[in-house]
Amino acid sequence: MSALPRHIAIVMDGNGRWAERHGKNRLQGHDAGMKAMKEIVKRSSTLGIEHLTVYAFSTENWKRPRSEVQGLMGLFRYYLKGKMESMHRRGARVRFAGHLEVFPEDIRDIVNEVMERTRDNAGIDVIFCVNYGGRQEIVDAVNRLLAQNTQGPVTEETLRGLMYAPDVPDPDLLIRTAGELRMSNFWLWGGAYSEYFFTDVYWPDFDRGELERAIDSYAGRERRYGTA
Ligand code: IPE
Ligand code: IPE
Ligand code: MG
Repeated sequence: MSALPRHIAIVMDGNGRWAERHGKNRLQGHDAGMKAMKEIVKRSSTLGIEHLTVYAFSTENWKRPRSEVQGLMGLFRYYLKGKMESMHRRGARVRFAGHLEVFPEDIRDIVNEVMERTRDNAGIDVIFCVNYGGRQEIVDAVNRLLAQNTQGPVTEETLRGLMYAPDVPDPDLLIRTAGELRMSNFWLWGGAYSEYFFTDVYWPDFDRGELERAIDSYAGRERRYGTA
């Protein structure tokens, strides 16, 4: 593979439809989705991907039935506690993007512990987007700017530096599963020049073969950034 993306970002969609197809409930679909995520982190790390951003819960997902939202919180809790140790051993640096202050205290504690514990790891950088909104990220940047009393003019660089993960290069490859051809408020600022890859595969079925298919597709593209 000639051109390996440095940063891959994924909208992990289709857990519900996967569950329906297999006669399971939605939560079982989300559980299968977590397992798929674990495998994709592992594989991305092996392939030498530097940054992996995954969209796990959007600012709009609160509109779902209470039982589903609570079930998802339970899964976050379980996987954060249980799987983070193995990510740490793998050398992964784990962090989070989104408004975490609304989450139950015990989840926030685990989140902080995981970030703290893996902060200096040199392996793959994994960014979990939970209660993340692309518009919210831009609004937050503007508010931080106002709080700094910065004198204008404001440049792209200024705003970029105030995004959730300013040290991370923009995603080279942005993947969405489950056949939806939209971004649903994901990584709006950073995705301006990302290469998009859409697949009909439901997230729980997204395996290393699919990941490699996406990377191959990326490798065959010419990125022009507006040049002739
Ligand atoms: C993605 O799967 C996971 C979250 C948004 C939390 P969905 O739950 O959206 O699955 P579908 O789109 O209903 O199949
Ligand atoms: C986007 O998926 C959010 C995540 C994958 C976390 P959704 O399933 O919520 O998006 P829509 O509703 O199809 O746009
Ligand atoms: Mg969906």
